[in-house]
Parts: sequence; C-alpha cells; structure tokens
Amino acid sequence: MPTRMSGHEVAKSVYAELREELSSLAYTPALRVVRLGEDPASVSYTRLKDKRAKELGLDSRVLALPEETTQEELLDLIASLNSDEDIDGILVQLPLPSHVDADLVIESIAPEKDVDGFHPFNVGRLWTGGKALRPCTPAGILRILDHFDIDLEGKEAVVVGRSNIVGKPLAALLLGRNATVTVAHSRTRDLGAVTRRADVLIAAVGRPGTITPDMVRDGAVLVDVGVNRVGDKLVGDIEPAAWDKSSAYTPVPGGVGPMTVAMLLANTVQAARWRRE
Ligand code: GUN
Repeated sequence: MPTRMSGHEVAKSVYAELREELSSLAYTPALRVVRLGEDPASVSYTRLKDKRAKELGLDSRVLALPEETTQEELLDLIASLNSDEDIDGILVQLPLPSHVDADLVIESIAPEKDVDGFHPFNVGRLWTGGKALRPCTPAGILRILDHFDIDLEGKEAVVVGRSNIVGKPLAALLLGRNATVTVAHSRTRDLGAVTRRADVLIAAVGRPGTITPDMVRDGAVLVDVGVNRVGDKLVGDIEPAAWDKSSAYTPVPGGVGPMTVAMLLANTVQAARWRRE
C-alpha cells in the first residue's frame, strides 16, 4: 500500500514548531497581505492566510484595495510598508489586474520582507544556495518529503510545469538536495517517456489528467500541486488511479495545499528573525 502523505499532518507539525519559536521571541512578527479587487479565489486565499496568521498569534492584516487602484498607488503603499520598521512580511496576492505590472510590483518589495520569495534577489539567492526567503509551495513540498523520510540524494526528480511560483523554484530546491532534476512542460516531446524516468514525480501544471497511470514508474513518489475545480470537486493534475503504482503520494485536496500557508507563516517568522536579530 502506498503512503498517503497528508499535508494537514505536516502543516500541524510546522505550526507546533512555529508556536514554540514564537513563545521565545520578544516581539510579534507582522505580516501584511495586499489584495487588489475582489476575485473570489484571491479573496478566499488572502482570508485564509490572514486567519491562520492570527491563529498563530502574528500581527496580520489584509490590505484590500479597490480593483481600480493605480500602479503608482500600489507602489506607494509598498514603499510605506518597506520603510515601516514594525512590518516583517509583505505579500501581494497574484494575479494582479492587467493595468498593473506584476514584475515591477514584485521588484518593489524589500527583499528581506518578500515572504513569497518572488523577488529576483531571493530567486537568485535560491539558485546560488545563499540565505533566502524561499517560495512557499516549493518549500512546503520539500517539507512534506522530509517529513515522510523521502531521500532525494541522487534520485531522478521530474517536475512537470515551469511556473515562477512552483516549477522553477522547486527545481532549484531539488537540485540543492542533490537530485537529478528534469523540468518538463507543455512543449516537452513524449512527456510519458520523461515522467517514467522519475523516482519523484511532481505535477504543477493546473490541468486535470496530466499524469495518467501509464506515465508513472512502479514505486515512484508522486506529488500533486494541481488544484483544479471540476464541477463541485477539487482534483489534482495526477489521476488518482496512478496512486496505486506509487510508493507514496500527496492527495488533492489535503496534500500540498495546506503547506503553502504554513510555509508563508514560517517565512514571516524567519524574515522577522533575520531583520530583527
Ligand atoms: N497566487 C497563487 N499563488 C500565489 C502565491 O503563492 N503567492 C501570491 N502572492 N499569490 C499567489
């Protein structure tokens, strides 16, 4: 029987560690979550981040601005958060409305407060192996693999998907653990031939049914980052029938999902320590 790797279980251990760490701090880390507009998914994600941060005892607020907020107004807000000594973490929820240049906004966040790990300074440090705030979803995936004692040293890791939020930073983290890393994507020829090589197969595409059972090697470890709404159900990128061929897998929902917010809060505490100590 394959091991079902529950993200809820791992997130619980992250929260327990953070609670312990916070009890020894003489200050309360502060997070500001910035959202433009009322896109339902963004409203729900930003509320969840704020709720979990408050439950942990952080000083957290959602700064919800109107959809029509100009780029200049948003940059002004970020500048004021950057210069506010009491603020440790800044997160701007993506996607942003099309009249705002998201890259410019990300680059305007002070790297030491960039708890998403999206600023080019943190991206560069991630690849060079320096001290960096790491993107939350990839960091959460590594945490799950560590929790379930999955060794990456010398293993074939195949990442399907090359987004700046998941695929690319995950490749850097896996390389940092001495895996042999392949990044496949929508233009990859014969995707199945590539995925069948994987000891650890991570799907981060956002398309249901991307990975079918025939694309999985017996005993592979499967990590599913997909969150796709099909009717009233949430499904991943990996067909559940493929789980039976694996030695371990993350389900959807309840796998990688719960880790993203946990790692955001871990990053906020990390940012506070690096800034204040
Ligand atoms: N939108 C989807 N995922 C993310 C994320 O990890 N961070 C931010 N800021 N926006 C997102």
